[in-house]
Amino acid sequence: MSETTADLTRPDRLPQWEALGKHRRELGGTHLRKLFAADPDRGSRYTLDVGDLHIDYSKNLVTDETLALLRELAEARGVAALRDAMFHGEKINITEDRAVLHTALRSPHDVVVEVDGHNVVPKVHSVLNKMCVFAERVRGGDWTGHTGKRIRNVVNIGIGGSDLGPAMAYEVLRPYTRRDMTFRFVSNVDGADLHEAVRDLDAEETLFIIASKTFTTVETITNATAARRWLLERLGGDQAAVAKHFVALSTNAEKVTEFGIDPDNMFEFWDWVGGRYSYDSAIGLSLMIAIGPDHFREMLAGFHLVDEHFRTAPPEENAPLLLGLLGVWYGNFWDAQSHAVLPYSHYLSRFTAYLQQLDMESNGKSVDRQGNPVEWQTGPVVWGTPGTNGQHAYYQLLHQGTKMIPADFIGFAEPVAELGELAGQHDLLMANFFAQTQALAFGKTPEEVAAEGVPADLVAHKTFRGNHPTTTILAKELTPSVLGQLVALYEHKVFVQGAIWDIDSFDQWGVELGKVLAKRLEPVLTDGTGGEALDSSTAALVRRYRTLRGR
Ligand code: F6P
Repeated sequence: MSETTADLTRPDRLPQWEALGKHRRELGGTHLRKLFAADPDRGSRYTLDVGDLHIDYSKNLVTDETLALLRELAEARGVAALRDAMFHGEKINITEDRAVLHTALRSPHDVVVEVDGHNVVPKVHSVLNKMCVFAERVRGGDWTGHTGKRIRNVVNIGIGGSDLGPAMAYEVLRPYTRRDMTFRFVSNVDGADLHEAVRDLDAEETLFIIASKTFTTVETITNATAARRWLLERLGGDQAAVAKHFVALSTNAEKVTEFGIDPDNMFEFWDWVGGRYSYDSAIGLSLMIAIGPDHFREMLAGFHLVDEHFRTAPPEENAPLLLGLLGVWYGNFWDAQSHAVLPYSHYLSRFTAYLQQLDMESNGKSVDRQGNPVEWQTGPVVWGTPGTNGQHAYYQLLHQGTKMIPADFIGFAEPVAELGELAGQHDLLMANFFAQTQALAFGKTPEEVAAEGVPADLVAHKTFRGNHPTTTILAKELTPSVLGQLVALYEHKVFVQGAIWDIDSFDQWGVELGKVLAKRLEPVLTDGTGGEALDSSTAALVRRYRTLRGR
């Protein structure tokens, strides 16, 4: 590629990028206190409503001009055109030559989405229907184990996108789950994970769901093989038991059959579903068994609602576009290195972990779509845990540290119904939710601190600079649909950022090297062979490991 062509694709060479840089310098240290004082309507003007989500972005370091400039950048980068290409099934995952069609997983029947001239929507619905039938059979006791006992335990074995989505959503939707069944999620190749998941289960009542897009992922196949051994040891070694206790979720029928799972017990998905975008595909089977097909469909409808919003809403009202642009603003013009997602719902305890894969595997890239090194910041470190726990741990740094950490606060007006008298604690939880964004934005000046009679030598310590940007996402209730809306919101936010940064958000080559090296190292650890070319640090560590293991 010639220098000139490459330059045209570089976001940082665009006049809109330069204008944002200039605008940032002009804003300097303008305080949110000043922005709020200058516009009494700011708190209602800078809000968006999408489905059940109310998004308040007024506590961000932006003005009307900032937002206009950011939207101009999105236009110059062709975000809308790339979005349309994604929805139309074009192969926008260029390094893998694949379409990116998680949105088709939640399309109604009558929508036509073509990949290579074939409509994929009927296939989606056919698998969804097969999942619903199976889920009802398991839930109703009609699908029994090898010895005729009903299934009471479901163990999903998968990793990355084949684990995080269903595991997260299961936690989120616990109040909707079959409380008389046990659901566990095994991902780590550390045998402790599987051991703890099955040690108290009755094999006769246990169904293993082996979730792997490729069906070659070493962690998953190792755990699945161990689970098969565990089952057969307990069921008298009859291989026929596998058919009643193992099902697969995969794109790879050949490998599934090779493993010994009946292809009739395989729930299919396709190469145009990225692993981290897959939990509303067959990968969600464990979740569907837990919450039932109707709630699963409600969740899909929530996803679709936000898909349609992203596809059709004008830029000024487009929530994923806005969230994506705010991230670009802080990452590229304020040097923010990380982004906190702080849910004020215990049920969202795994939500940020899920977002870490979604965001960091998608946008943790350092070459552009043409393979040139990027000279601008790309994806942030995403982190966070549910409030109020974080308040008693790391919020100190958010309030008084030296780092710029934009944060999303997610909360709900209603506690879940089944909390009973514990629901009375909800106002206290939400008082903290609102108080934190208030404190982060407005802080406490030295004058205010001194006026409270604080000794002069402590004033600086008790001052809160404020001006820390936050976005608040508030919904009435945490329902299956709201979960779908939230996930789709973040999926499309990540998409917007990848489009601005000119990176392929849908490949993940960065996970490959570690896999190859681990495969090479395993025999070195086990029998000491093949380690001649190791660097001195790794060689010494491996020697010590082997000595400690008595080898
Ligand atoms: O970590 C790399 C990765 O390929 C993820 O993108 C994916 O979600 C995970 O591994 C699991 O892959 P599979 O579903 O093929 O087992």
